[in-house]
Amino acid sequence: MRKHILVVPGDGIGQEVTQVGKKVLERVAEKFGHDFTYDEALIGHVAIEATGDPLPEETLVKMRSSDAILFGAVGHAKYDNDPNAKVRPEQGLLKMRKELGLFANLRPIKLFDELLASSSIKPEILKGSDILFFRELTGDVYFGEKKRTEDSASDLMIYHRYEVERIARKAFDAAMTRGKKLMSVDKANVLESSRLWREVVQEVSKDYPEVTVEHQFIDAAAMLLIKDPKRFDVVVLGNLFGDILTDEASQIAGSMGMLASASIGESTGVYEPIHGSAHDIAGKNLANPMASVLSAALLLDISFGLKEESEAVISAVDAVLKAGFRTGDIADENTPKEMILGTQEIGEEILKRI
Ligand code: NAD
Ligand code: IPM
Ligand code: MN
Repeated sequence: MRKHILVVPGDGIGQEVTQVGKKVLERVAEKFGHDFTYDEALIGHVAIEATGDPLPEETLVKMRSSDAILFGAVGHAKYDNDPNAKVRPEQGLLKMRKELGLFANLRPIKLFDELLASSSIKPEILKGSDILFFRELTGDVYFGEKKRTEDSASDLMIYHRYEVERIARKAFDAAMTRGKKLMSVDKANVLESSRLWREVVQEVSKDYPEVTVEHQFIDAAAMLLIKDPKRFDVVVLGNLFGDILTDEASQIAGSMGMLASASIGESTGVYEPIHGSAHDIAGKNLANPMASVLSAALLLDISFGLKEESEAVISAVDAVLKAGFRTGDIADENTPKEMILGTQEIGEEILKRI
């Protein structure tokens, strides 16, 4: 298969982990006889430094003409601590999602059994958890009108019917291929936008009579996720609630460094870890690259339909964990020191097993 992949590492550990994700794609191409070509582009802080723009036009042009995009992370401490900065790395990420029409962000919470001990949740509560989040990605308070005066600030939380309907349909379709259970999360007891959300999900559910639908408020859902993660199967929710609940859910998988995602919609799909640029560990070869590697696996599966190749990548990650190798974030008190590897070294262990 001939495909063109754009690699957009961005900032901080995005640079380090995406390098490993790309090597995995190269290894898959070699092993399975595919012809993947690559290009690279700037986004985030590195793009601001080079061009003044967090999403330069050149990057957008390359994105539009690629078959899939492997994305790292954006962000820099400099902006996090400067609330008045007008140009920010995150604007590049949000603009990319909007421009490419990436309205659905799939965040699978895949728990590798070997990591049961890495979580702060009891193994007997965790074992068997398998959740697929559908986070709406181009609406909500992220994209509503922003206003600022000297003494007040507001962000409009707005959803349109069509936005809720299209993400709900994707989630229901996925539920049909899994346990036929769907949880919709909102705050319909308070927010008008959530009442629209719930109304539309109820309407769409009529087309999926086999799917059991449960509505939960975001506060209760956050509690239930830790109390009883096995109760969750497919979950659909808005942009902000989805951002927060999936970082919480990363603790089911053991670490933020384990969670991959697929952002899909109207054009080229973007495959990205859910974590950020992690200033605290950036540039030290400490980051767990598995989220990027598993994002590459999602890319192969969803954008290219290469199931066997995708499975081979996931199995290689599993084999590395079974062999006992860990990065610092997923090591526990029983991990021997010599089994804790750096980003590039654990990447090599994954490559060997594909
Ligand atoms: P973060 O996800 O970067 O880090 C949170 C914590 O998880 C940190 O302690 C970090 O060391 C750890 N962590 C994250 N990924 C890891 C990995 N692969 N391996 C090991 N440990 C890992 O979130 P933050 O600290 O809140 O934000 C840092 C910057 O990243 C901010 O500027 C923020 O805006 C940005 N950000 C970007 C994205 C994105 O590009 N998609 C996502 C989240 C945050
Ligand atoms: C994510 C990030 C982004 C988001 C930020 C960096 C804009 O947290 O991808 O989860 O909130 O969507
Ligand atoms: Mn986030």
